[in-house]
Amino acid sequence: MNIVILAAGLGKRMRSSLPKVLHPLAGRPLLGHVIDTARALSPGRLVVVIGHGAGRVREVLGAADILFAEQAEQLGTGHAVQQAAAQLDDSVPTLVLYGDVPLTRAQTLRQLVQAAGDGKLGVLTVSLDDPSGYGRIVRDAAGRVQRIVEQKDATPEQLAIREINTGIIVAPTRRLKAWLGTLSNSNAQGEYYLTDVVERAVADGMEVVTAQPDAAWETLGVNSKTQLAELERIHQRNVALMLTDAGVTVLDPARLDVRGTLTCGNDVTIDVGCVFEGQVSLADGVAIGPHCVIRDSEIGAGTQVEAFSHLDGARIGAQARIGPYARLRPGAALADDVHIGNFVEVKNSTLAAGAKANHLAYVGDSTVGARVNVGAGTITCNYDGANKHRTVIEDDVFIGSDTQLVAPVTVGKGATIAAGTTVWQNVEAGALVLNEKRQVTRADYTRPAKKQ
Ligand code: UD1
Ligand code: CA
Repeated sequence: MNIVILAAGLGKRMRSSLPKVLHPLAGRPLLGHVIDTARALSPGRLVVVIGHGAGRVREVLGAADILFAEQAEQLGTGHAVQQAAAQLDDSVPTLVLYGDVPLTRAQTLRQLVQAAGDGKLGVLTVSLDDPSGYGRIVRDAAGRVQRIVEQKDATPEQLAIREINTGIIVAPTRRLKAWLGTLSNSNAQGEYYLTDVVERAVADGMEVVTAQPDAAWETLGVNSKTQLAELERIHQRNVALMLTDAGVTVLDPARLDVRGTLTCGNDVTIDVGCVFEGQVSLADGVAIGPHCVIRDSEIGAGTQVEAFSHLDGARIGAQARIGPYARLRPGAALADDVHIGNFVEVKNSTLAAGAKANHLAYVGDSTVGARVNVGAGTITCNYDGANKHRTVIEDDVFIGSDTQLVAPVTVGKGATIAAGTTVWQNVEAGALVLNEKRQVTRADYTRPAKKQ
């Protein structure tokens, strides 16, 4: 089949300079969601009709499998589909979607497409308690669809109809093209309405079928930031319920945000207020404390991430303890049983099994061996103002508190670094290293007093 996605509209009510279809839902442009759904149906041709902000839309969402058609002036939904006509394959039906309706399920569209087959016109409809604003589905006494009438063109009788046009239709392509050529804009809005093809189909003796989505939210569109926020919550709730259905303990499904793909093993627990971005995987038994932000990271079995931790591009082994208040930056690779405590930042470093940095430290561009203890206040001075250098700390090293390791530097296996040492030369295995300092005591000292 062909799929046409209408995405030329301005989206004035978003009150933004960003084209409407580029506003993010779950961290991804609205139009990106629609394109994903379209791809799930494996269309032979996928055409996106763009207009407002066309350049930016192409830039952000352009891909090898997407054809673009430009609609310079937004003269109506029928006119929009017409811009794509030249790129459609006549031998298969055409499905029309909207770029600002992001939550439609592929399964719902499959049902519509199946109902229409190759020779019927299909319309996705839904019955609403408050149908105002939408095109109404007008049926005859026998229940056959006759036409769609827009709100602004409807009679009071038609306005009472609760079944509405979601905007999603599928039609035999050759016939669709012919009907589009006959549309007129003599209606209340002076637009070429795609919905008028229904009347044309009926006049041609073509059967018009309808299908309904399982949930009404599948057909909700975004016209304002308020609606965008509402759809975000609906989407996040769906994601949370998918996770709980799969056995994940989500302490409050209303307080979880997944902006990307979250993969979970068995017996995973996620506390409130967490944000997951990009590709995140949590192995069996992982527990995430409240208010963590986790992006593009892999977390091994049984690992606990405590409250307020921020993980980005990290790989963590099994049975590790992270946080509270830990920060793991890209390239942090932690083996099994590693402990990273509060106010510890790790960047582009590997920590071998059992290594610990429990308090206030910066570990950057480092290779840290097994069972190393990184004392509180330890800093790897990895940057000389121009270049970054590596620190190598071999297995079983004990680093006393408040140590600076001036890279490039290597601390040999089993060495001990006394508290408060600045290490700027390599340390031999097994040695103790310290800086000579004197402790001075002045017994006759008087503290300054505040002036009266
Ligand atoms: C349309 C339908 C209406 C339906 C409603 C569902 C028509 C005439 N009416 O009305 O029956 O109930 O959707 O939401 O089709 N667009 C373009 N180019 C244009 C005009 C629109 O690309 O020239 C795009 C918009 O960006 C939007 C979509 O088409 O994504 C729908 O346009 P919109 O103006 O919102 O249609 P409605 O008047 O709401
Ligand atoms: Ca609309």
